[in-house]
Amino acid sequence: MKGIILHAGHGTRLRPLTHTGPKQLLPIANKPMSQYCLESIKDTGITDIAIIIGGVGSNKVKEYYEDGKKFGVKITYVEQDSPRGIAHAIRLCKDFIGNEKFLVFLGDNIIQRRISDFADEFEKSDAKAMILLCEVDNPSRFGIADVQNGIIKKIMEKPKDPPTNLAVTGIYFLTPIIFDIIDNLKPSWRNELEITDALDILLQNHKITYNVITDYWKDTGTPEDIIHANMTILDKTKPYFNGIKEKDVKINGNVMIGENTIIKSNVVINGPTIIGKNCVIESGSKIGPNTSIGDNSNLRCDIAESIVMSECNITCDIKIRNSIIAFNSELTTNQNTDDKVFLLGEGTRIIL
Ligand code: DAU
Repeated sequence: MKGIILHAGHGTRLRPLTHTGPKQLLPIANKPMSQYCLESIKDTGITDIAIIIGGVGSNKVKEYYEDGKKFGVKITYVEQDSPRGIAHAIRLCKDFIGNEKFLVFLGDNIIQRRISDFADEFEKSDAKAMILLCEVDNPSRFGIADVQNGIIKKIMEKPKDPPTNLAVTGIYFLTPIIFDIIDNLKPSWRNELEITDALDILLQNHKITYNVITDYWKDTGTPEDIIHANMTILDKTKPYFNGIKEKDVKINGNVMIGENTIIKSNVVINGPTIIGKNCVIESGSKIGPNTSIGDNSNLRCDIAESIVMSECNITCDIKIRNSIIAFNSELTTNQNTDDKVFLLGEGTRIIL
């Protein structure tokens, strides 16, 4: 089998975080979210992977993954001129796939469970496609499968009146028959070639199997989704301490500290929290829980339930909560007010 990761699109719901780069490179527990997809695919034994790129900062994807060697895979980049739909992006990979079965992963989907057993099942089966479904509270935000007595009857995109709450996750096991279907597909109301429409057409004459996943799965469409995914991933990460600690530092729970990071006196770190390499956490700071701090950042603040990306400087008396502060930003305040939420794009400077 081969693999495809969708890494294009506009990421409009995540602006301003996506003004300077693709949303799939935003870090969760200090690792780009699409790297979790790549590792999931690699874990199934697939090492030949196409990454669909396009839109703002797509060169950053190439810079990060290069030819894939350092991740133990071989990467082929496929350019999509504009986000004309998931099915459109998949169709661009026809030559790359050839006659093989393949696994498509949307680069903004985070799943905690391994999927190698599903890959094995699909490899052995004669089904033309297999999808993974997950029960959700807000089904009209997703592709939905109408499943009756264990059989998929219909697949639809973001229905107003969903027949079930079984969301079609962004992990699709497919066969090359899908390319011919996509060739005859009409754009949807959102002017995209929808993979759900292609699957629904496939369903008319062929078998599509499914599995329902009960483990954590998240489509990280909004800042709140990203903060939630960050919290969940952190919770499962094994603690380590590779930094330098001054006196009277309190570390509670699951905490990961990278190399050369200095934790100064009287700092409290509540897990789950990760702090990357070469950071300085100044005296009196309170970090966490559910917080990620990227490499080379310098903080004197009280922060929780938040993500600070690498190269940031924060000196702040405000309690920072539920915030995402992108790469290379500066936040300096002398005000002591109630909790505040920040959503700062790359390179922001705020001095109050
Ligand atoms: O996450 C699961 C959902 O993903 C499914 O339930 C829906 O059926 C499916 O349509 C999709 O819905 P979204 O509205 O969330 O899709 P979004 O536009 O966010 O795109 C999903 C990913 O694919 C995202 O990482 C961007 C990438 N993409 C998207 C389009 C439209 C591309 O690379 N190229 C594209 O043309």
